[in-house]
Amino acid sequence: MNQESQQNSSKHSVNPEKLKSLKELSKEYYNIDSLAKYIDVYRISQTDPDDFWNTIADRNFVWKRKWDSVLKWSPEKAEVTWFEGAQLNITENAIDRHLKTRGNKTAIIWEPNNPDEEALYISYSELSERVNKMANVLKKNGVQKGDRVCIYLPMIPELAIATLACARIGAVHSVVFAGFSASALSSRINDSNCRMVITSDGSYRGSKSIDLKSIVDEALESTPSVDCVLVVKRIFSKVEMRKGRDVWLHEELKQVNDTCEAEVMNAEDTLFILYTSGSTGTPKGMVHTTAGYMVYTAFSFKNIFQYKEDDVYWCTADIGWITGHSYIVYGPLLNGATTLMFEGVPSYPDYGRFWNIVEKYNVNQFYTAPTAIRALAKQDIEFVNTYDLSSLKVLGSVGEPINEEAWNWYYENIGKRKCPIVDTWWQTETGGIMISPIPFVTPTKPTYATLPLPGIQPSLMDDSGNEIQGNSVSGKLCIKYPWPSMARTVYGNHQRYKDTYFSAFKDVYFTGDGALRDEVGYYRITGRVDDVIIVSGHNLGTAPIEDAINEHPAVAESAIIGFPHQVKGNALAGFVILKNEGESRNKENLSKEINQLIASKIGPIAKLDRIHFVSGLPKTRSGKIMRRIMRKISSGEGNQIGDVSTLLDPSIVEEIKEKVQPFL
Ligand code: PRX
Repeated sequence: MNQESQQNSSKHSVNPEKLKSLKELSKEYYNIDSLAKYIDVYRISQTDPDDFWNTIADRNFVWKRKWDSVLKWSPEKAEVTWFEGAQLNITENAIDRHLKTRGNKTAIIWEPNNPDEEALYISYSELSERVNKMANVLKKNGVQKGDRVCIYLPMIPELAIATLACARIGAVHSVVFAGFSASALSSRINDSNCRMVITSDGSYRGSKSIDLKSIVDEALESTPSVDCVLVVKRIFSKVEMRKGRDVWLHEELKQVNDTCEAEVMNAEDTLFILYTSGSTGTPKGMVHTTAGYMVYTAFSFKNIFQYKEDDVYWCTADIGWITGHSYIVYGPLLNGATTLMFEGVPSYPDYGRFWNIVEKYNVNQFYTAPTAIRALAKQDIEFVNTYDLSSLKVLGSVGEPINEEAWNWYYENIGKRKCPIVDTWWQTETGGIMISPIPFVTPTKPTYATLPLPGIQPSLMDDSGNEIQGNSVSGKLCIKYPWPSMARTVYGNHQRYKDTYFSAFKDVYFTGDGALRDEVGYYRITGRVDDVIIVSGHNLGTAPIEDAINEHPAVAESAIIGFPHQVKGNALAGFVILKNEGESRNKENLSKEINQLIASKIGPIAKLDRIHFVSGLPKTRSGKIMRRIMRKISSGEGNQIGDVSTLLDPSIVEEIKEKVQPFL
């Protein structure tokens, strides 16, 4: 973004008459329901972003104090401030303001793992009471405004309630997906010095139950900042409660009342931290702040799902990921929607479970990931056809590129050719959906995320740092202008934020993805251009997995690549060099041990599907591992590697070719 556009936005360069008529139109900004309106609103948002966001924020939320300026932005410092001077509490917008008109409306439907267990319908009034009480429990146990609270819970109502309770009192939630290992949990707790951990005795996942509390106990052996663990009873297993540290939530709730004044928050006060993998180093704690995140998640939810008052909306993600934060909790509740939370997995008790739930609750908007679609498409179609899916209006996809076959299956079998698919591209860092069709507005095209939302200015850059103009082009996907829900920093490491997102290209945000823009200007995301691999929709950095493998005593060095997988999208293959003493070991046992190590350091999602023991890795003379070469060989394109003479040891390529069967 250049200085010129900055000036344009601040001095409102549109002529006053035109601005007046645009402002009239802007009354309807919030709900875009025709292509003509999209085009107009997009234009307004580009011409005068300050005015655009000013109007959205002004008309659709409750504020304790309005802002003095809409946007302040310093590209050199990678510092952005939205709605400076404003004061608010996001829970007043997500809960309190609905109480008068929607008090008895269901805010959250909770569907348990076991279909025979009773579902819960939590009304906005009940949600208010439960959030206030939980907020009082946090306070009673010493949590204060600004403190970080780690939430490590399964998909039970307390997970949503805990995030909102933190927001109520101005504590910063850091939700860690409850599939992560003890060591991944403790490193996230330590990175942001969390004061409290909220967990449960255990969790149900399909036919299994998992002992979460003991994972927390193990993690807390090395987390000096935590002085309290709040434990939800879910599976009624026997757990060890450490005296002076661990308390049961249900007992604490008996001792507090159900009103808790909403803390006055500044627009840029941190709302939450959420960790995401980077291509190198430890996970990055992405910091999201209050006002901008609220405005953008609410606005994007409303438009992307075209939510109508009595609809039932279901996003199958886990609240441990950004999708769950923005589009199970905040976006829907800010719009007074009914949002469904599902505790279980798509395959339990059988592969018809998702469709059973759609029928049971008459779900209108259904939002899931390509990996789930692919897994379900492989099953007998009777699992789908048994159920009445006629309530569905909009289908969503998120997390990775959706391949054409999966898109078509979803469109035909689930949407019965009448539900638009919104292929939503965005990231933990962006806070909300950035590029996506608006259903019934934007004509869809399989595998294309199509067009940016109003307020979002994508660009494609070439390797020399120039913006690529025109259509039918491809390049590295960047965003030229700030948007309200962008992450503000990496917790405790602003330099890393700057280096990762604002140094590849001058003054623009670099997403790490490659994309193409077709002849009409539609975007298609082609995948990561860095060392992040997306496995079943989960971002995994190569470095932490390699670090975990290298901790095995028999391993000298390793490198990870992703290879195409029918269900997961990508699966992981590891190339491992053994130390001398490892050479004589049984390779099957070694592979198992390596995978166990990965599961314990990171989590089972990062396990390798294939492990190749090799004598060396293709490296450049400067020591950089050429993963591209391993990827080419693995995908059967070993004859298209090109010149390998710059490698330190070109002969290693032949060895890898011999050892690796292409994963076709
Ligand atoms: O590579 C893109 C891919 O997922 C990355 C972001 O991952 P994460 O931060 O975990 O957030 C996932 C949920 C928002 C992106 O950089 N990605 C996400 N959605 C899509 C996608 N790739 C293609 N198409 C999408 N719809």
